[in-house]
Amino acid sequence: MRLLAAIGALAIIVAIAAAAFFFGGFYSVAGTQEDPAIVKWALIKVRSASIARHATDKAPGNLGDKATVQAGARQFMERGCVTCHGAPGAEWAKFSEGLHPDPPDLKEVVEGRSPEELFWVVKNGINMTGMPSFGAVGVADDDIWKIVAFIKQLPHVSDADFKAWTSGSAPAGAAKQ
Ligand code: HEC
Repeated sequence: MRLLAAIGALAIIVAIAAAAFFFGGFYSVAGTQEDPAIVKWALIKVRSASIARHATDKAPGNLGDKATVQAGARQFMERGCVTCHGAPGAEWAKFSEGLHPDPPDLKEVVEGRSPEELFWVVKNGINMTGMPSFGAVGVADDDIWKIVAFIKQLPHVSDADFKAWTSGSAPAGAAKQ
């Protein structure tokens, strides 16, 4: 009984201390603040498990088609993905290095992801990171699948291919030529 009371009292003290720490402004929300290793590990685990469980929309059969991949490259340019993630022959904007977590170089991650997982991330975004939901701003599923077709091919797309496929496309936010 005494032990239970002690545990209860301790729990209350910890809760009060945590509330004072977080609501008192002692916790830093700075983007430059490094996460402790255990937080980093947990965030990655939670993200992967969440995406794997939610990614249930089935990929259409045409993801390998050349025309689909090229249309996806244009979407990738026009929707602003290049700004944060870069593209073959195109640098990401400097500010993207200041995001925390920073946007990955997609050609290094796509081989470990299914098209369904990539689709879900682009459509829904990743909460509390810089990764926006493109579904929320009205990008049609069909166009998101084209983007997926393109990013799946990223490790094999040359600078010249990307330039040719996107000629005439302007990056999001830039004035059309
Ligand atoms: C404002 C910056 C920003 C823009 C614009 C942006 N992203 Fe992201 N993206 C991020 C960040 C930051 C992450 C990493 C999130 C994390 O670590 O959990 C990310 C993660 C991703 C991932 C998951 C990578 C993985 O490890 O599985 C994919 C796929 C992705 N972005 C694709 C896109 C596509 C396609 C577009 C354009 C339609 C786009 N992003 C536009 C910032 C951005």
